[in-house]
Amino acid sequence: MAEGMKVAVLGAAGFVGGELLRLLGAHPAVESLRAFSASHGGQTAASVHPALRHAPSLVLEAAAPREAGAWADVLFLALPHGKSQEMMEDLVDCPARLIVDLAADFRISDPALFAASYGEHRAPHLLDGFTYALADVSGSALAGRRLLAAPGCFATACLLALAPLARAGRLDHPAACFAVTGSTGAGVQPRRTTHHPIRAHNFFAYALGGHRHRAEVVDALRREDGTSAPPTLIVHSAPLVRGIHLTARVLLDRPLDDPLEPYRAVFEARPFVHLLDQPPELAAVVGTNHAHLHLATRADGREAICCVAIDNLVKGAAGQAVQAMNLALGLDETAGLEFGGIYPC
Ligand SMILES: NC(=O)c1ccc[n+]([C@@H]2O[C@H](COP(=O)([O-])OP(=O)(O)OC[C@H]3O[C@@H](n4cnc5c(N)ncnc54)[C@H](OP(=O)(O)O)[C@@H]3O)[C@@H](O)[C@H]2O)c1
Repeated sequence: MAEGMKVAVLGAAGFVGGELLRLLGAHPAVESLRAFSASHGGQTAASVHPALRHAPSLVLEAAAPREAGAWADVLFLALPHGKSQEMMEDLVDCPARLIVDLAADFRISDPALFAASYGEHRAPHLLDGFTYALADVSGSALAGRRLLAAPGCFATACLLALAPLARAGRLDHPAACFAVTGSTGAGVQPRRTTHHPIRAHNFFAYALGGHRHRAEVVDALRREDGTSAPPTLIVHSAPLVRGIHLTARVLLDRPLDDPLEPYRAVFEARPFVHLLDQPPELAAVVGTNHAHLHLATRADGREAICCVAIDNLVKGAAGQAVQAMNLALGLDETAGLEFGGIYPC
């Protein structure tokens, strides 16, 4: 059992970095927390993340990845895509017992699949060493792993809907996934599509040429059954700040005997996935590490519809990463994550 841990966060001024500080600051096994920031070194965490006012002594330090890796038992990287690739060579042999990367850099094990979505990888020899840390599906398989790649937010929602069917060998046809997301999915830097006047009462599709998270979904589903047909993933910006709601539709060659059985088989021992008997509401999961799922069948059982609601910054990022840390280090899986949400929000 790991206790009294020293934990460091790189990219502390970002949205995911802020969520990591919130969660790790209340984690029972974390004794000492350091936050590193390229843009806000020397400022208090509360001046960057106003909800951290209760932690006045937490000050962001100037970015120093090697120092962080040398000091920490656990190192979290919450950096823009591409930055982890640049620095991982220097970090991978550091004394830290666990490194968790939250960017896309090490999520895809197949270099060709990675390159098709993100371009050439700058440290492809390190890809094999990372484990895709889809905590609610992998569970105890994360125990003892040292290098974790936390999944993307859309990919998390997609895989919670599809991995059980893939594991049961019942992704008979390519699934169609329709997802909506809040503006925090795009990070802390304002852009036209995240600017309040454009976003607040608006709704639009984007990345219709193919969202990059699809590649990690394809890679993860291949690991489940080796054969799954690649799903489509169509994403939309919704007038929300947080949260992802995804609806997956799967056509089946023959009805499932018990449609919920594949989901129970994967999730019954998992504390954060809840199978509801009605469609989930996004507001019920916002701010939490919980995922709400609902499965319906129609067309005489030959069509399965799975709805998933998660918070993109918690279940889709920082919360899942902390859950993966708990599993990797043999801590209680729910440590530091046992809070519920606020409703309505
Ligand atoms: N937002 C989500 O819902 C979500 C969900 C899952 C995964 N992710 C992934 O998590 C990572 C962080 O996402 P985010 O939403 O927190 O992004 P973000 O709000 O843009 O934060 C990223 C942080 O990285 C640091 N940074 C920015 N540019 C940098 C540069 N050129 N070199 C080094 N550091 C730089 C900055 O922090 P400092 O100045 O403090 O260093 C910045 O605040 C991304 O890879 C993203 O894909 C995000």
